[in-house]
Amino acid sequence: QNILVKDLYKKEFADGDQITVSGWIRTIRGSKRVGFIELNDGSFFKNVQVVITSDMENYAEVVKFPISTTIKVVGELALTPKAQQPFEIHATEVIEEGASDADYPLQKKAHSYEFMRTIAHLRPRTNTFYSVFRIRSLASFAIHEYLQKNDFVYVHTPIITSSDAEGAGEMFQVTTLDMNNVPKTDDGKIDYNEDFFRKETNLTVSGQLEVEPFALAFRNVYTFGPTFRAENSHTGRHASEFWMIEPELAFADLQDEMNCSEELLKYVINYVMDHAKEELDFLNENVDNTLIDRLKATAGETFAHVSYTDAIDILEKATDVEFEVKPYWGLDLDSEHERYLSEQVYKKPVFITDYPKDFKAFYMRANDDGKTVAAADLLVPEIGELIGGSQREERLEKLEKRMSELDMNEDDYKWYLELRKYGGTVHSGFGIGFERLIMYITGMENIRDVIAYPRTPGNAEF
Ligand code: 4AD
Ligand code: MG
Repeated sequence: QNILVKDLYKKEFADGDQITVSGWIRTIRGSKRVGFIELNDGSFFKNVQVVITSDMENYAEVVKFPISTTIKVVGELALTPKAQQPFEIHATEVIEEGASDADYPLQKKAHSYEFMRTIAHLRPRTNTFYSVFRIRSLASFAIHEYLQKNDFVYVHTPIITSSDAEGAGEMFQVTTLDMNNVPKTDDGKIDYNEDFFRKETNLTVSGQLEVEPFALAFRNVYTFGPTFRAENSHTGRHASEFWMIEPELAFADLQDEMNCSEELLKYVINYVMDHAKEELDFLNENVDNTLIDRLKATAGETFAHVSYTDAIDILEKATDVEFEVKPYWGLDLDSEHERYLSEQVYKKPVFITDYPKDFKAFYMRANDDGKTVAAADLLVPEIGELIGGSQREERLEKLEKRMSELDMNEDDYKWYLELRKYGGTVHSGFGIGFERLIMYITGMENIRDVIAYPRTPGNAEF
């Protein structure tokens, strides 16, 4: 009977059942007569212990198998209720399915995360990365489940686009032009008419502009896909390619948008706590021993709210901290400010609302004070900014005015403006940085360790 290790742990088996499992050797040790293999078959976080003895014809060969050899084990299940693992397999036969060289880089000793990044193709075979990537998969599913249950329609927005949603100019250009012989127009500019799309294009920094039109047809929508930023940030929280969840809600203001994001986060955290118990226990023990307490707290508490103006006031008056960058009204919050607010002041996730319009995107709705916009960033302990959201400017004249202040080419966004012309409505949305969410849920401190193959400045290996 071919079985999965997951089922060994979750289904009823009897002492003496004949079973076959296939997997990879995680550890192996043995003497002349008896040996022990910790076998992982990928189906479950935990290993199964395989006992081998010299009764086996090829025992001498098997006991020397290097770590990570792929084997098939035929044997008998032995229930061992008093031992650490409730059962083991007494092998009658071990067949090598895929040999492993003795220089397999993941030997027993602990390796640094830096080293692991150089073997991104092998690191999912470790407990830490197995846990991270399984949780990443579960979180992704939970996000879809929550949104679908709440009638959000999933829209697949384009990766290649000609708009710059965030206006930060941090875009990777997409071109088929010959860089050694760039065609120029008469006035010396690059002639994009010669390029593949006959216009300047880039990898998307956000699917928001393209998902908004669907909110005005389906009411509640979302996009969830890869986004790209050519931002030269060398931190543990920035990647050049990352995934973003961007829900957009029609007939919803800033408060509705914040409520939705809070509920969604709690749903995902609860889902992962329900479905990845072994992984979370492992991470809590080995990566961050405050993890489970923090997740339980987040799932159970009401997030804090404070306006940017009040937050600056708090930061300016803070006496228990020496900031590298002095905060003042008009300055975008630095990560040290964000962490101070969420970790020292509120000690839980906190929405900062109504930021100065000067460092926020053009589409955010102007507040009556003329200085701030209806924006809300969610800051969380350990990470800083996890979510960026806002109410969108639905008033055509105000939006046009803001775009011209920012020197944007109205022709390029004609379609976006038309949403305000043909039946516009109050609407709002937000973007969750998926990797930052996974950092929050796993306790991992570097974004490079929650993406399968991280892309950061100077690094696009694999
Ligand atoms: O705050 P941002 O730039 O907001 C937007 O892109 C909006 N269009 C979202 C919306 O309202 N639909 O990005 C949203 C989130 C950030 O809060 C952060 O978590 C994450 O995306 N993020 C990054 N994550 C990793 N690496 C980067 N370089 C990131 N830049 C933003
Ligand atoms: Mg932001």
